[in-house]
Amino acid sequence: MTAPHVLLMANVHPLLVESLEKTYQLHEFLPSQSNEPLEGIAQDIQAIVAYGESRVTPDFLAQFPAAKLLAVWGVGYDGVDVAGAHSLGVSVTNTPDVLTDDVADLAMGLVLATARAIPSADRFVKAGKWGSEKFPLTRKVSGSRLGVVGLGRIGLAIAQRAEAFGMKISYSARQRKEDVGYPYYSSPQALAAGVDFLMVCTVGGNPTRGLIDAEVLNALGPEGILINVARGSVVDESALIKALLEKRIAAAALDVFVDEPNVAAELRQMDNVVLTPHMASSTLNTRIAMNNLVMQNLAAYFKGEALITPVSS
Ligand code: 8YV
Repeated sequence: MTAPHVLLMANVHPLLVESLEKTYQLHEFLPSQSNEPLEGIAQDIQAIVAYGESRVTPDFLAQFPAAKLLAVWGVGYDGVDVAGAHSLGVSVTNTPDVLTDDVADLAMGLVLATARAIPSADRFVKAGKWGSEKFPLTRKVSGSRLGVVGLGRIGLAIAQRAEAFGMKISYSARQRKEDVGYPYYSSPQALAAGVDFLMVCTVGGNPTRGLIDAEVLNALGPEGILINVARGSVVDESALIKALLEKRIAAAALDVFVDEPNVAAELRQMDNVVLTPHMASSTLNTRIAMNNLVMQNLAAYFKGEALITPVSS
């Protein structure tokens, strides 16, 4: 029996490419690099592998009538029209849970990096300034107030870590979580008004586009620090740049951006802004776990078994 045809439409981890090549007839098509339709092969594609940032419309899927699985390598699938996929009979899977710890770890790293100015302290020592200049005092993290925007799996994991720092946690979400004792605010603006750190870890896409706007940043205030490990789209980046330039907030740390990998020049120039290249889940351990989950979902689909981590619409 010949191996099924699988389409890979994203720049995923090389070990996943290796596993896919060993198991399937793999066809790579990166939408950012080519507009070429997959002439001759489109009818044969039975599954598609995308990643967290992929844009997948029903029109795109309709080119592959035999593909009834879209396996997303990532927990986020805000670029996927899930309802549209389902209406074409295409199931969608993602890679939740396996990356939660890493994202939460990096989020705490960004809290410490901004408040304690770790990147600028590093630059200070490396520039040989220690001894001739004084490094400015930084901000205490332990015991401070953390507002979590979006208390899902990742938000809860961040809150758990923050508790170990004695931080006072509150959150905003579309709905109050019945099983959580942290103070709840129905809007990010109300939440921001009473915290030192505003941690954005909500889903991306249309429902949250520009959720963190000028009003939220004003509420966070001149001592407030914004951290975003969710999606660039959740924060109004122009409003953020303006708030930073006008010192209406104290600092920011961003792992995600509106137009990745192109980061606004203003952000790259500010010393009180810590930037990382969308790397919250990028550890080898987690990449391997994400790879395995994609392979398991594909295997289940091809065997006609229940998918491991299906996404509902
Ligand atoms: C990935 C992510 O780095 O899971 C997600 O939604 O954004 C990240 O874990 C990304 O999808 C791979 O590029």
